[in-house]
Amino acid sequence: MRWRLLTLSAPLCLATAPPSDVFPLEGAACSAAAGRPPPKTPTAFEVLTSKWDALPLPDVPDFGSRWEPMLDELDKIFSNSSVVRAPTLESRSEAQQEVASALGDKAAAVYGEMLNIGTLGMLHHLGAQPGQRFYDLGSGTGKATMIAWLWGLHATGIELVSQRWQSACRALEAVRHTPQLRPPLTGGSMRQIKGNLAEIDVADADFVFSNSVMFPQELVRMMARHLGDSLRPGALVVCFQLLQTIDDRFVSLGKIMGPATWKLDQSWHVHKVVTSPADAPRQDEKLGEPQPGRLPDQVCELLAESDRPS
Ligand SMILES: C[S@@+](CC[C@H](N)C(=O)[O-])C[C@H]1O[C@@H](n2cnc3c(N)ncnc32)[C@H](O)[C@@H]1O
Repeated sequence: MRWRLLTLSAPLCLATAPPSDVFPLEGAACSAAAGRPPPKTPTAFEVLTSKWDALPLPDVPDFGSRWEPMLDELDKIFSNSSVVRAPTLESRSEAQQEVASALGDKAAAVYGEMLNIGTLGMLHHLGAQPGQRFYDLGSGTGKATMIAWLWGLHATGIELVSQRWQSACRALEAVRHTPQLRPPLTGGSMRQIKGNLAEIDVADADFVFSNSVMFPQELVRMMARHLGDSLRPGALVVCFQLLQTIDDRFVSLGKIMGPATWKLDQSWHVHKVVTSPADAPRQDEKLGEPQPGRLPDQVCELLAESDRPS
């Protein structure tokens, strides 16, 4: 498609542009000849996104036959979500206000995502099996949660910013009407919770993901404490920062690499929980009050087929 456009438009431009300028100045020369302002220089983000299609495909079973068509469907579902590609100033400042009023710091409102192929690679690398439980802490518009659900997991996203959570719920609704999107077994379920990650119970998790790139240190410590206080031994936590608790609940298993909306080769730390909460003395730091067991105020969900009322 791109090649066809070039062959159609290039001869028109070549006629008016000096040959030596054709390659670097093709767009400007064409625009000037047509009386239009020259095209604007692509932003760093546009340059980055133009490389997404050329990224190596994840080494995931059935990628071409099963996942590629599903990722296309996901792109359609999320095509109306402007949060990543074009957040308006108002929505950005709304998000900042909401995060600042909950956390006292707006830094964690900054948005970006692991790309879908990165999420697939991560689940494969972690050895996730259908029926296990996955949480995305700071789930944004819910793509990672949705991919985990498609993998066959019980997947929960937790997001503080209303408009992002609403976007995730709209996508969840759209899935109900998209028969091409189905987990391999009927046992997976998907929930999108509006709330603060430090206040929602995640004790049953097998996998926790947090793309916590811009989280302030205090929030990272609060998250480490919350996870350390509740996760069972063997649970795996993937997070931008290296997590530590004062009683060494986590061991580091190294890093995974994957593409993100801001960098094509981002890395995240993988941690494993090694002691159970009962074995460890409670930390006495006062960093906030996690409330395990607390029911979320706002949630949308897609139940497992087996849980749905017949
Ligand atoms: C970098 S984005 C990650 C989006 C998504 N998980 C992904 O990688 O595809 C981080 C998200 O965390 C959310 N967030 C920040 N602090 C939070 C908190 N305390 N509780 C829940 N979500 C939070 C932000 O609003 C933002 O949407």
